[in-house]
Formats: sequence, C-alpha cells, structure tokens
Amino acid sequence: PAVEFELEAPFSIEYHDSVGSTNDRARELAAEGATDVAVLADEQVGGRGRLEREWSSPSGGVWVSVVTRPAVAPAQAPLYTLAASVATATAAREAGVDARIKWPNDVVVPVGDDGDYRKLAGILTEMEGETDRVEWLAVGVGVNANLDADALPEGATSIREEAGDIDRRRFVQRLLEEFDRYREDLEAVVPAWRDLALTIGQRVRVDRPAGEIVGEAVDVTESGALVVETENGQEIVTAGDCEHLRPV
Ligand code: BTN
Repeated sequence: PAVEFELEAPFSIEYHDSVGSTNDRARELAAEGATDVAVLADEQVGGRGRLEREWSSPSGGVWVSVVTRPAVAPAQAPLYTLAASVATATAAREAGVDARIKWPNDVVVPVGDDGDYRKLAGILTEMEGETDRVEWLAVGVGVNANLDADALPEGATSIREEAGDIDRRRFVQRLLEEFDRYREDLEAVVPAWRDLALTIGQRVRVDRPAGEIVGEAVDVTESGALVVETENGQEIVTAGDCEHLRPV
C-alpha cells in the first residue's frame, strides 16, 4: 500500500517503498483521471528505460513519475520531456554535480573535454491522447542518487559518486518545482535546455528511424530537434538515439 506525504511542490505525492515501475503506477492513476500527482519509489523491481530497455532501480535512487494533463497538441509533448531533463539537471547542479544534457534528454556528467560522459539520469515520457490533443502525460525520471559505483550500470555515475549523498525529498521538491515552472512557461524550455546541452558542438552519430547520420551537432530548434551538419548538408533530427564521437 502506498504511503502519502506532502512536499511543498504543486503535486501530491504517492510514495512506495517498492513498486514495479512508477511509470506503470502513474499510467494507472492517469487512466483514472488523476493529474498533478508524482509517484515516488525508493526501489523499482520492474524499472523501464527508453527503447524497451531495463532500468536498474535499486534502493537509494530517485525514481519518480509525474502525471500531468496539459492542454496542448501531441507535437508539444517532447517539450515536457526536455523540461524534465532541465529540471533534473538543475536540481543535480544545485547538489554540486556538473550535470549537463545529452540530446535529447539524458542527464550526464562530462568526463574530460572530448564529449565523453557518464549517465546520471534518464527520462521516459509516456502519453495518451488524440491526434490534436494530449489527454495525459506520465513523465518518468530516474536519477542515480545515493548509489555506490558498484550498484550502477556500465557508463553510469551517481550523485553520491560525484558530490556525496543528497536529501532525496529536497531533491524531488526542487525537481518538481522546476518542472512546474517550465510547464507553465514552455517557451523557456528550449533556451534553458540549450544552455545545458553537452551535445551542441560535438561530432555525433544519430540513429534515426530514417537511418543513421554522422556530423556535427550545431544547434537545437525551437521544438527541440537536433540540427546536424553532415557532409551532405544540414539535417534536422526530431527523434533518435545520439552518440558523441571523438573529434577527428
Ligand atoms: C532512459 O532510458 O534513459 C529513461 C529511464 C527512465 C527511468 C525512470 S525511473 C522512474 C520511471 N519509472 C520507470 O520504470 N522508468 C522511469
């Protein structure tokens, strides 16, 4: 059974010591008509990542999913995911971590100056709606918070490793406050995202539904798409997986 507690953020909190996936629980609540609820767990036993990957979620991390029902078109939905990555990076930076964003929405910590990084947090947004309007969004955020190096997947880091343990309640509160601020001011999302982007200026390989491209990431558009200069000209990438390459 869920225990509830209050945070000074404009969301009600449903807390679980252990849950399958906070996104699954958020989807259930959303289907029942709930809004502005954050489902929070100490541990997930069925955590899910993007692209049907598993998401390791032991006790000590921040595993949270927010249900919101914005009056927007589905094309705007990616802005909520970017907003969550900005909110997460901001809360991590306040905790003393050099958190940056790898396009589209991984929160990473740079290693050296060549675009190398370790992953600190990821976002998984799920949505229900019609072609012209969103009914609800479940924005799931997974942060490797108070976790030891040996509890992390390869290529990952944690707040504990980078800056020491945090008060997870305080962290979630800051994350939700920032997310709320950006969902109320969607025009501020991409500029804030651009300021934190580690990907801009990098040589990248992007695996898109339409095929792979390699080039230099030069900017993001107003809607959050990545602008890549390739040998064959400029490409605008709206969805895909992006890898930073070593400079040549
Ligand atoms: C990614 O692949 O980078 C996204 C990871 C998203 C993980 C979070 S943890 C809270 C929420 N519940 C889940 O099952 N997944 C998301």
